[in-house]
Amino acid sequence: MKVQQEDFHALAERVDRVLESLKDLPEDARMKALELKKAIESFHEYALRKLVRTLRETDKGKELLQKAVEDPSIYAMLFMHGIIKQDLFTRVAAVLEEVRPYMRSHGGDVELVKVEENTVYVRLQGACSGCSLSTMTLKNGVEEAIKARIPEIEQVVMAEDEVSSGYLPIHVMDDENRLDQSGWLEGPSVSELKVGQPLRFSCDKGDILLVQLEGKVMAFRNQCPHMGMSLDGGLVDESIITCPWHGFRFDLSTGECITAPHVQLEPFPVRVEDQRIWIYLR
Ligand code: FES
Repeated sequence: MKVQQEDFHALAERVDRVLESLKDLPEDARMKALELKKAIESFHEYALRKLVRTLRETDKGKELLQKAVEDPSIYAMLFMHGIIKQDLFTRVAAVLEEVRPYMRSHGGDVELVKVEENTVYVRLQGACSGCSLSTMTLKNGVEEAIKARIPEIEQVVMAEDEVSSGYLPIHVMDDENRLDQSGWLEGPSVSELKVGQPLRFSCDKGDILLVQLEGKVMAFRNQCPHMGMSLDGGLVDESIITCPWHGFRFDLSTGECITAPHVQLEPFPVRVEDQRIWIYLR
């Protein structure tokens, strides 16, 4: 049977409904039904792993796999079976969400700046920033938490200060020489950015989502952390953007996800000079 993509949500809801109804079965029947579910899932996982392994054997196959994973239903299936993982940035961001309440209870906060190979760059904020205990806080709290849950991360370091602000007001100009020689990428003109309308800007480092909010230009990776789909078709209502794929909502003033607080958008520092938008892409 051919399943159309628009049926994906209906199919997922059907699974949820059936699972929910199992609760009403007598214990013995419920256990058997769950065992059947597990057996079918194991069978699917076995076949899917073989399929993915086969595709990965050739460049063409890898290309096809990459394309296939852009489909939310295929992504969901492979993700559910642990065959693909969330990207590293999203996983680290999820861990930081866990330590954030502790840091906030001490008047501080932590911002995830970037993840490069096995190194996480963070910036401490509030009471943690520059205080004599900041290194200790970083080592004992953030680093331990990240390394415990994501073993491939080997170190957590403080990000350098020169890219400290991701959100500079439009009227802020900077006399610094030649942004293009210090890692900043020239984007579109401010005039192309309309309030309430996200603008997609593509470059060789990927797709960027630009939005204007209360006189500020904001830049994020144009990738929803839910399933990695593009966000530029999303509706913006005041400071909230809604992902056009499955409706996750994000606060554009912080990048935080309102629907699932353990994920967030990846922000990039932005400057505006001579009405041109500059983005710092790491
Ligand atoms: S990709 Fe699913 S909500 Fe955005």
